[in-house]
Amino acid sequence: MQHSTLMLKIKISPRSLSMFLIKTWRATAFGVYGYLNFTRNGFLEHAKNFKEEDMQKRIEGKNCIVTGANSGIGYATAEGLALRGATVYMVCRSKERGEAALSSIQSKTGNPNIHLEVCDLSSVNDIKSFTSRFSSKDVPVHVLVNNAGSLEQNRVVTPEGFETNFAVNVLGTYTMTELMLPLLEKAAPDARVITVSSGGMYSVPLTTDLQFSSGKFDGVEQYARNKRVQVALTEKWSEMYKEKAIGFYSMHPGWAETPGVTKSLPSFSERFAGKLRTSEEGADTVVWLALQPKEKLVPGAFYFDRAEAPKHLKFAATGGSHTAVDSIVANLRSMANLPPLN
Ligand SMILES: NC(=O)c1ccc[n+]([C@@H]2O[C@H](COP(=O)([O-])OP(=O)(O)OC[C@H]3O[C@@H](n4cnc5c(N)ncnc54)[C@H](OP(=O)(O)O)[C@@H]3O)[C@@H](O)[C@H]2O)c1
Repeated sequence: MQHSTLMLKIKISPRSLSMFLIKTWRATAFGVYGYLNFTRNGFLEHAKNFKEEDMQKRIEGKNCIVTGANSGIGYATAEGLALRGATVYMVCRSKERGEAALSSIQSKTGNPNIHLEVCDLSSVNDIKSFTSRFSSKDVPVHVLVNNAGSLEQNRVVTPEGFETNFAVNVLGTYTMTELMLPLLEKAAPDARVITVSSGGMYSVPLTTDLQFSSGKFDGVEQYARNKRVQVALTEKWSEMYKEKAIGFYSMHPGWAETPGVTKSLPSFSERFAGKLRTSEEGADTVVWLALQPKEKLVPGAFYFDRAEAPKHLKFAATGGSHTAVDSIVANLRSMANLPPLN
């Protein structure tokens, strides 16, 4: 009797009960909000308010870098920018997949100014050698789209010693953006960085456990945590680099049927078969953010379907967590071997 009372006490301690309730609420709120908004029906509903003229701008002479441009949303973004006349640099890890995507975009859009840059975004060293190579071109960068993303279900460590999802989604995004700042400054005040996050970030607060070192590894949760970091970093960059006149925006594409989703989330993909957005619909807000006059956009904001979206769901208790961003930035700089900020 005593033993079972003790067990009961351990199982329902007030702290674990409240954590359980918060997590359940976050998952439920995310699921319901997502079902109503992130699917194809959500896109079609929101599209009723879209303005056709927003997408009719030509951007000849603008240099746009898109990471992960050979597939899914990155491919659709590169194509959307190329269609409007931009010079597009597709950053891909595979030369073969990159070349195939480039030639397909070139033949669909007739734009000859598309270039392939090979870089593995899970490697800080590779990003450094790409950015140094690219910087020698000395071209202004008007748009950097941090799109490449990873959702590995298992804990896989890169040769540089980082958990893979974190390496691509967070450390890669951070290093790439920081090292592109001089070229972005050359295009200021027209320069902007658009980071493709995910609605999945609504389900978690910002945490300083960047590589999921405590507790049992969960790839989907790690992905959501990474995506939350991207939103907090965007806010931070916007505040830190206000004087540089570069716009920083994060966004989420909703739920789109892409090779990445089919491979990483097969049961989700099956359950939502026929209800997911196309890659073009997922990329719509990325292209929109690249085309709008900056005065129309809110610095550091999170966008969805061509409008500013909340960064936190109601009662999800994630709101205060962004205060941890300074220590995350310090940690990322040290991992990427970048000089500490003054
Ligand atoms: N689809 C959705 O419903 C959805 C929802 C929310 C957020 N997102 C976000 O949207 C972005 C694009 O995802 P997607 O759905 O279009 O998936 P996808 O089809 O798998 O595209 C991901 C792209 O990232 C590239 N990539 C992955 N790891 C890389 C690395 N180490 N170095 C260089 N490139 C790398 C992939 O290259 P390979 O082809 O070589 O693998 C691919 O080109 C991601 O950031 C994802 O988190 C997607």
